[in-house]
Amino acid sequence: MRRKGVRQLINFDVNIDRKDTRSMKWDGMKKVFGRDDLLPMWVADMDFRPPQEVIDAFRERVDHGVFGYTIVTDRLAAAICNWTKMRHDWDIRSEWLLYSPGVIPSVHTAIQAFTKPGDKILVQSPVYTPFFHMIERNSREVANSPLVLKNGRYEIDFEDFEEKLSNGVKIFLLSNPHNPAGRVWEKEELTRLAKLCKKYNVLIVSDEIHADLVAAPYKHIPLASLDESFADFTLTLMAPTKTFNLAGVQASFMVVPNKNLRTKMAVVQASEGFSMLNTFGAVAMEAAYTHGGNWLDGALKYIRSNIDYVKEEIGSQIPLLDVIDPEGTYLVWIDCRKLGLSDAELKKRILEKGRLALNFGNAYGPGGEGFIRMNVACPKETVIEGVRRLKIALVD
Ligand SMILES: Cc1ncc(COP(=O)(O)O)c(C=O)c1O
Repeated sequence: MRRKGVRQLINFDVNIDRKDTRSMKWDGMKKVFGRDDLLPMWVADMDFRPPQEVIDAFRERVDHGVFGYTIVTDRLAAAICNWTKMRHDWDIRSEWLLYSPGVIPSVHTAIQAFTKPGDKILVQSPVYTPFFHMIERNSREVANSPLVLKNGRYEIDFEDFEEKLSNGVKIFLLSNPHNPAGRVWEKEELTRLAKLCKKYNVLIVSDEIHADLVAAPYKHIPLASLDESFADFTLTLMAPTKTFNLAGVQASFMVVPNKNLRTKMAVVQASEGFSMLNTFGAVAMEAAYTHGGNWLDGALKYIRSNIDYVKEEIGSQIPLLDVIDPEGTYLVWIDCRKLGLSDAELKKRILEKGRLALNFGNAYGPGGEGFIRMNVACPKETVIEGVRRLKIALVD
């Protein structure tokens, strides 16, 4: 039944009605924004179907009809190792892998495994909101080295980064590619970050969930792939869920080459009660990494054309906004500060006048104020409507 090796024609233009599917993005708006008459371009999932081979693999498994306890097979590990080699030129060994329901649970586990309450964990704001929540919910302290926006591109202030590290940081929580700043960190930047962490004996937790969402001329580099000595103090967190739009399936993996770190993580995972991936997580992960390459290439091309549309349209229709061109991910970070609106006013206008659900920048920590984040992993028709509504909210 599974169409192995057969190229599927993919039409990302198809508008799929996601209402009443328990979708957070579509059905969760009322709870978050207080109304459900909005066009949702917020939560970071796609409005696309995943690769047909993944759907076929689900169907085959459903048709089997028995859903007992599930093991992780060598075939799954091989599919992951092959994927990281093909896509990221990174040779990993299957024994380095740990599995988890998600990158967020993995970060929680790492925090509990390697820090104590009150310890400092370093982030680079503006950054993915749950980074702050995960640190605070574990009673750890946020240390922050804000990114610097220079000529429309975010950079790292290495002097500040080192100063923060020298003040007793235990973990550096990296986002690469960076959500929401859209940077795909370069070799020189990653090397400098890793060398500084090594100098101050700081563990790196590298959240690379957006790794696959990068197209030429940019190239994702797993930090741990740069040098064996970096791999020794780095936990790399990856997943097929962003890449192939499978977030509801809840499945991810970690690459932890250092045996002591890996054992500690496994012990803490076990103490949290985690023992296995759910059946459909394992099925989806293997099918996606084995057969999803063509689908992903098509999705990346489609998303890039959506990004280009947003850039061009906003450039000509709403010139007071500055679009930060994303080097990776499908999330477009837009600087609205020239409008001179407060965050509350910006939000009110976009929700009430534009009837558009976006993520608002002040949730991403210092430096996010006055920005919005728009998710363009959706049919072009939605992007066109989203920009039209943004214009109504902010210009008309
Ligand atoms: C940087 C980053 N990390 C983690 C996640 C969520 O990971 P998971 O669903 O695997 O817990 C997201 C989702 O948007 C993200 O953007």
